[in-house]
Amino acid sequence: MFNRRKFLGSSLLGIAGSIIGKKTIASPIHNGVTGKPIVISTWDFGKPANAEAWKVLSTGGRALDAVEAGVKIPEADPNIQTVGYGGLPDRDGHVTLDACIMDENGGCGSVMCLEHIVHPISVARMVMEKTPHVVLVGEGALQFALANGFKKENLLTPKSEKDWKEWLKSSKYEPVINIENKLANISTSTAVMPGSEFNHDTIGMVALDAKGNLSGACTTSGLAFKMHGRVGDSPIIGAGLFVDNEVGAATSTGVGEEVIRIVGSHLVVELLRQGMSPEDACKKAVERIVNRNPEKAKTLQVGFLALKKNGEFGAYAIQKGFSYAVKNGEQEKMYDARSLF
Ligand code: GLY
Repeated sequence: MFNRRKFLGSSLLGIAGSIIGKKTIASPIHNGVTGKPIVISTWDFGKPANAEAWKVLSTGGRALDAVEAGVKIPEADPNIQTVGYGGLPDRDGHVTLDACIMDENGGCGSVMCLEHIVHPISVARMVMEKTPHVVLVGEGALQFALANGFKKENLLTPKSEKDWKEWLKSSKYEPVINIENKLANISTSTAVMPGSEFNHDTIGMVALDAKGNLSGACTTSGLAFKMHGRVGDSPIIGAGLFVDNEVGAATSTGVGEEVIRIVGSHLVVELLRQGMSPEDACKKAVERIVNRNPEKAKTLQVGFLALKKNGEFGAYAIQKGFSYAVKNGEQEKMYDARSLF
């Protein structure tokens, strides 16, 4: 079905997200300081996700409930080929999903390489709340989900199956930046901002509720046409997501392998603890990745997004084109993160 030798000889690089017509504004010169409650999330699909989370936050609900409800919107949307139902499959045609969630008490749950379940974030929450464990993977995660009332479904939509079959013709596992934008019906004909060829995948969402508690959620179908069993940063606590209710919360998007290598979201939160602003903390984490291999970094995208305990938020990315969505009582806006390149 594919040439493993060719694959193993090539580097793992990022696959793009379907980013469409933009009405973004530049990141605040200084990090946005806002009152609580507030929810922020990655990419354009963060806006409708935030709106759903806001229903919980604006009525005094818990940040944990808000982030779960929020990320379920892109998980269920078949047009988003990088998260949940309709996600692009792995190289063998399996749609395998990764998700994690973390609450204000340091509770966390994660599922990795989960198939057939539309809402992996809710399974991750159940792992956190109903088991003594943090992570369930693959078949075990599926068994757990089915035993707890989740329905087994086919997540491979005709569109993603067609795209996979097209990819199989070459089975090239090499940098195909912005592959979703090339594949998707949407996005190529609309106003795509400069640099958006590096746009990526995951929805990461962090929220601060009216009581001043933080939570976060992160969910993705991961790298398109990945090796079966590959897991990125998104479901790894500390890499794709980290919440410390004393300090702040952070999440990431982009090439997961690079984020795992620096335990990115945990790093950002620790930098917040040292007194850095959210944007500066995210920038420092990006620099950590780039400094490890500056040449390689030119070809990939990673973005971080952070929220402090006081409601201050910020983001930073390697490449231009990382948008993020912010919603609170005063604003519902898209921002463009600043970037190194
Ligand atoms: N950031 C998503 C992934 O690499 O799977």
